[in-house]
Amino acid sequence: MPVNLRGRSFLTLMDFTRDEIRYLLDLSHDLKAKKRAGLPSKTLEGKNIVLLFEKPSTRTRCAFETAALDEGAHVTFLDQSSSQMNKKESLEDTARVLGRYYDSIEYRGYAQATVEALARFSGVPVYNGLTDVDHPTQILADLMTMEERLHKPLEKAKVVFVGDTRNNISLAWSIACAKLGMDFVGLGPKELHPDAAALTGWRRLAEESGGSLTFTDTVEAAVRDADAVYTDVWVSMGEESKMAERVKVLTPYRVDQKLLEQIGGPDCIFMHCLPAFHDWETATAQKAKEAGLDIREVTDEVFRGPRSVVFDEAENRLHTIKAVLVATLR
Ligand code: CP
Ligand code: NVA
Repeated sequence: MPVNLRGRSFLTLMDFTRDEIRYLLDLSHDLKAKKRAGLPSKTLEGKNIVLLFEKPSTRTRCAFETAALDEGAHVTFLDQSSSQMNKKESLEDTARVLGRYYDSIEYRGYAQATVEALARFSGVPVYNGLTDVDHPTQILADLMTMEERLHKPLEKAKVVFVGDTRNNISLAWSIACAKLGMDFVGLGPKELHPDAAALTGWRRLAEESGGSLTFTDTVEAAVRDADAVYTDVWVSMGEESKMAERVKVLTPYRVDQKLLEQIGGPDCIFMHCLPAFHDWETATAQKAKEAGLDIREVTDEVFRGPRSVVFDEAENRLHTIKAVLVATLR
């Protein structure tokens, strides 16, 4: 069956088959090559896309804007302070109104239920630009980056996510690995492992696809031949009050050269969705330092080291988001 994603929302990779994810990755590689070659590609002329952000963003917002503009579409950006949504107007009413103006909607915020409701009530494709439990456009960019760097099929790859294994990136990776037959290991303190009951269905899916999902708190139990070691901030957006307790339990899981070599195979790459705390060059890291907290989830040596592909991942947000827009709107 040929893949046709026209009119589809992109809320979670759980909604997509292996073939559909493959199609989006192939399109991403193709669009990247076209952009590099300077070939004009205006497949979305006349389309209007609205970007709703209830949390801050650099990559996701800019990737959606540049991807849309590259393809000839127009975007409107609305942050929390500049719309009526959830203040003077219900989510349902806002979704119905936006669906009358726009060909699609991107949403970044808190509850997955919000992005689902936008899709239900707007009648147009809706894209998840990050919620508390998922970040599917990020994982698409990460998969593309792995394909560029690893020179092996994704289904043969092992990813070890180190840190807050209950966060949106770790959960989104678990879904991707379960779908694509990859091996996923979440390495971090037990109290931050995902709820076991919630994982049952995903584990079954992983078994069917030839992949696996493992969560552990010991480095020794984590695979030693990881193809990618991934980490993310210890405190996600919206959880800022938990900083001190996270530093306490996650400090042993800071990704340094020793940990990278313990877990990773010879060609292992280091991945991070960004933004990252790897030095003291941010107001947040400085403020935490003054309070006696070292919030760096990765050392500067690893972040800037030869295995790091973090800026490739950031670039690939553009090409993969463009693929999602083109596939669903063209
Ligand atoms: N990785 C990512 O989603 O970055 P932003 O928060 O800057 O969008
Ligand atoms: N887990 C992070 C991801 C940022 C892209 C957060 O939600 O803040």
